[in-house]
Amino acid sequence: MMLSNQIRQTFLDYFARNGHRVVNSSSLIPYGDKTILFTNAGMNQFKNAFLGLEKRDYTRAATSQKVMRVSGKHNDLENVGPSKRHHTFFEMLGNFSFGDYFKEDAMKFALELLEKEYGFERDRMWFTIYKDDDESYQLWQKHGISPSRVLRFGEKDNFWRMGATGPCGPSSEIHYFTGDLKNNDAKWVNNDNDLNETTVEIWNLVFVQFNQTDTALEPLPQTGVDTGMGFERLVRLLQKGENNYDTDLFMPMLEKVQQLAHQTDVQRKDNYVPYRVIADHVRAASFLIGDGVLPGNEGRNYVLRMVMRRAMRYGRDLGFEEPFLYKVAESVIDKMGDYYTELKDRRQHILNTIHAEEERFERTLDQGLERLNALFATTDDRRPTPASQQSLVVGGQSSKIISGADAFKLYDTFGLPVEITRDVAKINGYTVDDAGFDVARAAAKDVARSAGKETFVGNFDAAKAHREAFDMLVADGQLSSSGVNYNPYGALEVNTEIVAILLNGEMTDRAVPGDTFEVVLKDVPFYLESGGQVGDMGEVRGASGDWRMSVKGAHRLVPGFVTLVCEVNEGEAKIGDTCVATVDTARRNSIQRNHTATHLLQKALRTVLGTHVGQQGSLVAPDRLRFDFSHGAAMSRDEIDKVSDLLNDSILADWPVWDKQESYKEAIAGGAMAFFSDKYGDVVRVVRIGKESEPVYSAELCGGTHVGRTGEIGSAIVVSEGALAAGVRRIEVLTGKGALEHTRKQAQQLAQIGHAINATPDNAADQVSKVSAQLSETRKELEVLRRNQARAEFETIVKRQTSNVNGSAHLVVEVKVDRVDTLREMSDWFREQHHSGVLVLGAVVGDKPALLVSVSPDLNKQGIEAGKLIKEIAALVGGSGGGRPTLAQAGGKDASKLPEALEKARQLIQQASTNRNE
Ligand code: SER
Repeated sequence: MMLSNQIRQTFLDYFARNGHRVVNSSSLIPYGDKTILFTNAGMNQFKNAFLGLEKRDYTRAATSQKVMRVSGKHNDLENVGPSKRHHTFFEMLGNFSFGDYFKEDAMKFALELLEKEYGFERDRMWFTIYKDDDESYQLWQKHGISPSRVLRFGEKDNFWRMGATGPCGPSSEIHYFTGDLKNNDAKWVNNDNDLNETTVEIWNLVFVQFNQTDTALEPLPQTGVDTGMGFERLVRLLQKGENNYDTDLFMPMLEKVQQLAHQTDVQRKDNYVPYRVIADHVRAASFLIGDGVLPGNEGRNYVLRMVMRRAMRYGRDLGFEEPFLYKVAESVIDKMGDYYTELKDRRQHILNTIHAEEERFERTLDQGLERLNALFATTDDRRPTPASQQSLVVGGQSSKIISGADAFKLYDTFGLPVEITRDVAKINGYTVDDAGFDVARAAAKDVARSAGKETFVGNFDAAKAHREAFDMLVADGQLSSSGVNYNPYGALEVNTEIVAILLNGEMTDRAVPGDTFEVVLKDVPFYLESGGQVGDMGEVRGASGDWRMSVKGAHRLVPGFVTLVCEVNEGEAKIGDTCVATVDTARRNSIQRNHTATHLLQKALRTVLGTHVGQQGSLVAPDRLRFDFSHGAAMSRDEIDKVSDLLNDSILADWPVWDKQESYKEAIAGGAMAFFSDKYGDVVRVVRIGKESEPVYSAELCGGTHVGRTGEIGSAIVVSEGALAAGVRRIEVLTGKGALEHTRKQAQQLAQIGHAINATPDNAADQVSKVSAQLSETRKELEVLRRNQARAEFETIVKRQTSNVNGSAHLVVEVKVDRVDTLREMSDWFREQHHSGVLVLGAVVGDKPALLVSVSPDLNKQGIEAGKLIKEIAALVGGSGGGRPTLAQAGGKDASKLPEALEKARQLIQQASTNRNE
């Protein structure tokens, strides 16, 4: 039996033998494509090649691609668990042609691989085609397939789209029957009622012919092939598993869960839904984190959080009450880490992130579920569906509804993703009002883009305009096919020429003050924002001296075509003008200092904290550098000092900084650091720092610009260190003049402090502690004095205004106090003097009324109770209060009613005393 690794390799080898370039999987985070939240198909990384926006040095490719289908057009979430074959994360095997072969060869390759390499039986295969694709109908027959095996379907099944926009086309799928041959029947193909899932789609051959724009389906200039084969299904069929989980791909996870849950094999079988959900979701979480996603509340961060929380919720069904997912994630890394090495490289970070999220959610999960159950209980005719009857999503809606507001509250208060609420609701015979949820969420001014909505703006129109402009300039001989000469690594001032000017994507012949233009120069010395380094700014001047424009930024939407975003300051620039392009050198130098310092910082952090430190993101700007890195705890003062020392030592060492182009594989093998969210080609640029004769200090894959020697950085100061997300810290550093400025400012502040307290900078700290100790001493004394004074004043009032009623002291009075607590003290003072008595105090504290009633126990016996009394009088000031029979306090809202409340107290006490005497 072939193991999964071998099955994957067989696929890639087969296509390599047939002239295909084997390309690495791209990240789950789509690179430079805002139309999808996650990579959702193997073709994503080739989108521009299909659209003809980009030319590659190959026209055939094959991949094993990481994909997520949990949002947008392709979303399988709710079927994961009940279904034998659906996943959120999965691997997709695919072969691609960009203007090379088309339908006939795509079919030939598919058949040959399935039959000859994998040994599939033709008798069990079914072929679907798009309803009017007669060509494919003929071609399958040409390949020896009986026409009775070729079935026609409509848009939904046989027209594939990547998302709302993008390359698309009719498709032909291959389905495979897994049951007893006598039941093999065309009716099971694409049939939602095939609850046993005996017929499985294994391969989708898309014949890419169109581009779907926001408004139209446009034919593409060249045709292409995009095929996708779900790897997990393939493995299942080859390993004769009953379902996708019944394979060497998932077995380690299922066994780990079983072992942790202390369950028997029978229990595992009975609880297959939670087992599958957990195995699937832990895989998704591990890969997402491995690709740089962190749990959060928006977009893809939300999706990661949601799948983890959903797995935890299913974990409750198996009895897990403590974090367990991170332990299951170990099996994912062990199983998949050889092919997807990012898992191994980021092992600790993945485990820590999952663990932290589990701990965070554990606290509120039970409360959230309790609240949800209470919602079910408030509805009368509850119709529970046992967990074992959870089914595939095949339509059918329940009539009982959890309101959007309730679902949102559960999310907002307990972090219960709406997907969990939906799951649990479904088990109990309810549905969730999704539209209402969106409304509630919007109403709560949650600006987060809700996951699963394709709300991103596509960038196709701008890219298309650039493509057309570029092609035209090449056809006219204005630019070579390799495009403009982009060289931010050379001279910062170049003599060049304007080859094109664009206004709102349209070619125009001149640029004048007032509008923002895109200007295309033959040579570009300006750095384009990338890899965290901000883009350059600068100036372009006409060689004749009669015009000048400032450069605010730059774009490169299609390879080779750089446009500068410019505003004309004076004169009028025309196509063909010769000119001088100058980078703002002071700004660029500051940026470079910060960029080189970022590399030195990463090295210092890894030296001081450990090699688990990995870059999560960075910003290299002229005024500062910001570096986000994986690390589980706040850095101590001592660690920050050590990092700071190393950083400055490496600056003082004045090492050379140099770069070299080399093969990606060699660079990584030689220990160069790569930032995992970046996309790298086969040949990469490596920036090294250190003495060439020794093992270098730092080596990183990097496209940025750097100082020539570290000494140019001057010095570096760590100005902040804090938490960014679970397991991720953010550190900010200033270098060069910024560091100097910062130090100067601090020195000035210190001098000001010294001046204010009559100290020199050297003894200012001592002096400040002395002054602050004196201050607290003085405060204490003042407090005692105030209290004594208050007591004296109060005693005067007591003496003057207390009346004696049958041997008991009665006092109802408004007093002046700063704090409510003083009323309490006053009642103590009163009691010290009068063992039998009733005291009612009123005061306005802030602008709110406060009341206190104190009654001695002997008067309690006669029916005067503090708690009762205060209730009646507090009502008059718009408040409520309570307390013991002997002491009660209350606050209120309306201070103007205080005299009225005190008057009422007098009456009530008098009445009580009169009653007592009668
Ligand atoms: N893009 C198609 C799919 O994902 C074929 O690769 O099914």
